[in-house]
Amino acid sequence: PRLAVIVVAAGSGTRLNGGAPKAFVGLDEHTILRHSLSGVFAAPRAQVVVVVPSGFEGAALTDAHAVAGDRRDLVSVVSGGATRQSSVAAGLAALRADVDTVLVHDAARALTPPAVFERVVAALDAGADAVIPAVPVVDTIKRVDAEGAIVAAVDRSELAAAQTPQGFRRGILEEALRSADADHTDDAALVAAAGHPVITVAGDAASFKITTGPDLDRARALLADAAP
Ligand code: CTP
Ligand code: MG
Repeated sequence: PRLAVIVVAAGSGTRLNGGAPKAFVGLDEHTILRHSLSGVFAAPRAQVVVVVPSGFEGAALTDAHAVAGDRRDLVSVVSGGATRQSSVAAGLAALRADVDTVLVHDAARALTPPAVFERVVAALDAGADAVIPAVPVVDTIKRVDAEGAIVAAVDRSELAAAQTPQGFRRGILEEALRSADADHTDDAALVAAAGHPVITVAGDAASFKITTGPDLDRARALLADAAP
């Protein structure tokens, strides 16, 4: 396929502190990673590269094969790096020659609906070089100083919360990584720093990132509610 999805799952999950690297923490009888991959395989057909902590390659392949269906041959697993950005670079190094469009997705966004993948791919097909799903910010946001005093109100209508999967022309993402002079927390920031415009499509509340214990509880409750 000309499309690839890099699923970054190589983080340790320090804030979750779930007893295993975050992607390998259970949501129900299945891991966060396996739920994420179910969404990836329900989305447009793609090469899938899963980036995991060293030593977890076998466990990741087992999860991937359980949900890959007839896309089994499109899956590979590689080990990641110390930062998210280096894990993305490790994933890019595993892409097939025919891939020209790449999505990067956080495994920690375990319940991302397939429709979000479809919207990102559609924007790339329509000619965008870089596209991310985003949702409106619901909280009232303040800029604060080091002491916590409010410095300024920030107009919420000018803000959006960035999600994944984030989609790019392969060459643009590769070049942005090569020329990166700082570590960025998402790929859109990296590509924007390299001078490329990034557009947004509608994200989804269900794509929230499992970061802390309460996020894990929320994901577990949503799955329990959805169960027959
Ligand atoms: N990630 C990665 N490699 C890293 C760091 C993060 O592949 N060195 C991945 C995580 O596995 C996760 C996504 O990037 O799917 C978003 O990162 P985050 O939510 O911060 O996860 P962790 O870094 O694992 O969590 P924490 O920051 O709490 O340690
Ligand atoms: Mg992190």
